[in-house]
Amino acid sequence: MIVAIRVLPEYQRKRIGKALLLTVEEKARRLNKKKLLVSTSNDNLPALAFYQLSGYQIYEVIPNAIAEKHGEMHPGLFGIPVRDEIRLKKHLN
Ligand SMILES: CC(C)(COP(=O)(O)OP(=O)(O)OC[C@H]1O[C@@H](n2cnc3c(N)ncnc32)[C@H](O)[C@@H]1OP(=O)(O)O)[C@@H](O)C(=O)NCCC(=O)NCCS
Repeated sequence: MIVAIRVLPEYQRKRIGKALLLTVEEKARRLNKKKLLVSTSNDNLPALAFYQLSGYQIYEVIPNAIAEKHGEMHPGLFGIPVRDEIRLKKHLN
């Protein structure tokens, strides 16, 4: 499962994240893996767009998982409280 993929802000939206993801997918295929799982937080709307537009589908939402891990709730992107873990998957072929 990918829990963290990060491109420095000044290099975002230049297809670097997509290239990283495709590299991981290719390695996983070579290891004969059938699917790839990724995880992000409920506030991360850019990552949700990025993953879904890369062929990933939400399969599980774990309410409060992140808030409980950190013991408190922080404001995240767009001021949305960081609370839930959202898991997405892609079948590799
Ligand atoms: C999410 C992240 C890895 C994407 O990397 P990136 O190099 O900026 O993304 P890419 O340029 O490869 O984007 C590929 C496509 O995803 C979509 N996308 C990427 N960022 C997006 C955004 N902020 N809003 C909407 N769509 C977005 C677009 O369709 C984009 O294609 P386009 O630019 O031709 O329209 C990067 O924004 C990042 O590092 N964010 C901070 C860390 C993070 O949230 N990581 C993910 C959760 S662990």
